Amino acid sequence: QELQINLEQIEKGGYDHFMLKEIYEQPSAISDTFRGRMRVSDGIIKMAGIDDNLAKLLNAKRIIIIACGTSWHAGLVAEYIFEELVRLPVEVEYASEFRYRNPVIHQDDVVIAISQSGETADTMAAIKLAKEKGAFVFGVCNVVGSSISRETHAGAYTHAGPEIGVASTKAFTTQITILSLIALKLAERKGTISNSDFHYYLQELERIPEKVKVALESDNHIKHIADTYKNARNFLYLGRGYNFPVALEGALKLKEISYIHAEGYPAAEMKHGPIALIDDQMPVVVIATKKGHYDKVVSNIQEIKSRKGKIIGIVTEGDSTVKELADHVIEIPETEEFLTPLLTTIPLQLLSYHIAVMLDKNVDQPRNLAKSVTVE
Ligand code: G6P
Repeated sequence: QELQINLEQIEKGGYDHFMLKEIYEQPSAISDTFRGRMRVSDGIIKMAGIDDNLAKLLNAKRIIIIACGTSWHAGLVAEYIFEELVRLPVEVEYASEFRYRNPVIHQDDVVIAISQSGETADTMAAIKLAKEKGAFVFGVCNVVGSSISRETHAGAYTHAGPEIGVASTKAFTTQITILSLIALKLAERKGTISNSDFHYYLQELERIPEKVKVALESDNHIKHIADTYKNARNFLYLGRGYNFPVALEGALKLKEISYIHAEGYPAAEMKHGPIALIDDQMPVVVIATKKGHYDKVVSNIQEIKSRKGKIIGIVTEGDSTVKELADHVIEIPETEEFLTPLLTTIPLQLLSYHIAVMLDKNVDQPRNLAKSVTVE
C-alpha cells in the first residue's frame, strides 16, 4: 500500500494531481508533437502518414472528422482551421451519431478519426463503417499501438506522453497541434495559402510552447478567480470562431471534475436562450482575444454586463477594452488567430482544476467517468 502511494507520488512529479502535471506538461508535449516533423528554417513539414498518402489527401473533396468528448472538440477546432487554410469542406461528427445514421460517404472523402486512447468503442465502430464505404481513414491517436491506430489506413501520433487524468488536457492541445500541421502541409501543397504565410505560420507554431509557458504564469491569479466563483451553481462559456470549440471544452472540463453545471455557447447565440439565465449569480467566461471578431465579442460582453453577469475575460496581453468591462481578465500572449485555441485553453483548464480542488473533488478520477470508454 505504502509502496503504491509512493510510486504514485513519484509519477506525479511533485504535482498534487496528474491533471495539474499534464496541464504543465503542455509546452513540452506540444514541442514533442512537432519535433522532427517541422523544419522551420527550410519551411518543411514531414509526416510519414501524410507524405505517403499525399495524393489521396490532396484530391479529397471533403473531410469528415469523427471523435468523442474532448477529441471531438479538437475536431471542431480543426474544422475551422482546415476550412480557412485548405479551403476544403469539413464535417465534424460525434462517432456515436455517425455510426448509426447510414451516413453518406464517398470514395473521395477523407475521414480523420481523433482519439487520445485509441480505444473508444464508438469511434472504432465509426472507422469500420467509413472503411466499409470506401473512405480513406486517417487516425490521430496518442496511445501508440492502440486499436484505432491499427485499424486506420494511416495516421499520426500526437506524442503527448501518457495522459492519466481522466479529464483530457495535453491530449487536446497536441491534437490541435498535429491537425494544424496537417492543415498547413496540405494548404502549402494546394497553394491555398501564400508561401510567406506558410513560413510565418510555421514560425508562429514553433513559438507556441513558449507562449503556453507564459499563459501558465497566470495560475495564481486564476486560483483567486476560482476561489471567488467556486460556489456558483452554473457557468456559461462563450467564444466565437476558433474559440467557440474552446468554450465548449472549457465548460466540459468544469463539468467533468467539479460537477458544476456549465454550458459552452457560440457568443452570438447567447441571445437565443442562455441570456435568459444571466443574473448577478452567473459567472460568464468569455474568450475575447484581439483577433477573431473582437468587436462583436465586446458587444456580447456589454450585453452580459447590463444584466449584471460576472465576466471573466480571456484576453490578449495588453487589452484594455475588455478590462474595463469585465470583473476579471486573464491574459494570454498574442498569436496567429488559428493558433489561439492552444493558448486560450490553458486558463480554462486551470480554472476548472482549481475549482475542483477547492470543492474537494477527485480531480484525477471524477465520479462516473472513465479515461477510455470501450463500451457503447
Ligand atoms: C472519455 C474521456 C474523455 C475523452 C473521451 C474520448 O469520455 O473521459 O477525456 O475525451 O472519452 O476519448 P478518446 O480516447 O477517444 O479521445
